[in-house]
Amino acid sequence: MKPRLVIVGASYAGLQLAASARESGHDGDIVLIGDEPHAPYQRPPLSKGFLTGSFAEERLPLRSPAFYGEMQIQWMPSTRALRIDRERKQIELHDGARLAYDHLALTTGARVRKLDCKGASHDAVYYLRDLRDARRLVERTQTARRAVVVGGGYIGLEAAASLRQKGLDVTVVETEARVLARVASPSISVIMQRAHTRHGVSLALGRKVVAIHDVADGVAVELDDGARLSCDLVVVGIGVLPNTELAAGCGLDVAGGIVVDACARTSDPSIVAAGDCAAFVPYWAPAGSAACRIESVQNANDMARTAAASVLGRSEPYRAVPWFWSDQYDLKLQMAGVNTGFTGFAMRGSIDEGKFSLFYFRDDRLVAVDSINRPQDHMLARKLLSTGTRLSVEDVNDPGFDLKAFANRDAGVAHGAAS
Ligand code: NAI
Repeated sequence: MKPRLVIVGASYAGLQLAASARESGHDGDIVLIGDEPHAPYQRPPLSKGFLTGSFAEERLPLRSPAFYGEMQIQWMPSTRALRIDRERKQIELHDGARLAYDHLALTTGARVRKLDCKGASHDAVYYLRDLRDARRLVERTQTARRAVVVGGGYIGLEAAASLRQKGLDVTVVETEARVLARVASPSISVIMQRAHTRHGVSLALGRKVVAIHDVADGVAVELDDGARLSCDLVVVGIGVLPNTELAAGCGLDVAGGIVVDACARTSDPSIVAAGDCAAFVPYWAPAGSAACRIESVQNANDMARTAAASVLGRSEPYRAVPWFWSDQYDLKLQMAGVNTGFTGFAMRGSIDEGKFSLFYFRDDRLVAVDSINRPQDHMLARKLLSTGTRLSVEDVNDPGFDLKAFANRDAGVAHGAAS
């Protein structure tokens, strides 16, 4: 019998894992289980073009229907895995059926963190994680005029920009003193805050929502300073929680995520995990760092490739440079690397012209680059970070320094050294 690979979770990581396993030579069954009725689809447009109306729903699927047949991937929609029986190597499904596996992959993703205050379950409160959420919100925005966005992270700010573009009045409420505090440096936060203010968004920073009240013409969002923001709808984007219950329920190591090694292997040799649900110590983290999760499309895809290699018995440690992006108004924010603990930074380009990149260094080593409307810098940064370049602050500050030539030369040197 050829080995069967069962993948639980049909979004980016699950689909990529299925495709990579097949492409790399897995010739047994590949079963992809997803609890949504739709085939795997793109999520980034949900808070951007799909919300503004410029990105049609037909464009969302990640692959055409024919792909699943060609790759012999058996996709099971609207199917929920309830339990894993590791001893029998079986999964129990919501309808009582049992599915046997030889290899199991957990790509269960994350779910939204819910607002916890009086009135939080009012039907004017919306979340934005999946297509069903997005459809509901789009429908409501056809008639709504005023929105309060809770959370000034990626989802909150992208939703705020999209709702402004649709002509709604928008206020963003964020508990931290600046937006994007989890992912961006203070300088980037200031730039993004200015952009939102310039486009007419009101920002309530350092504020908490204490209650949502039902009022005659919609709802009123009460803040901890007593302010009441009247609106027709509330969009909440206050982070996500990893879906680890299946893993914990069958005794796998779970610590803020399903714990995996550099090859995406869990504590059970038959089970891998990848994407938003998986916690690992990244190759770039300082020695002794705790396992962490990376929430991004890049991480889901690249980690899934590593997990697929492990399924096929190959050890290909995950070493991809993390990168992220966000589109808000006319700003394309692209981030390469992770700037945690940076000790200095240098800039190329011009803030006044709205095109610049910040290069972050930790102890003289380049660790991350944030670019706004400088896509070439972003691509070069990914190259430099992957080759472990010794770029200096002086290089970045020198207007005559040719970053492109340097990055390409550096890549050549690194390649030559390796071969
Ligand atoms: P997030 O963690 O990026 O941001 C949540 C924000 O909400 C933080 O700024 C936090 O301080 C704030 N917050 C937390 N509790 C709050 C409260 N009670 N009241 C007000 N503010 C509060 O999470 P977000 O934006 O919900 O995004 C969810 C996921 O989607 C993340 O995994 C994110 O990486 C991903 N995503 C990525 C995008 C990208 O890469 N461009 C775009 C959109 C989403």
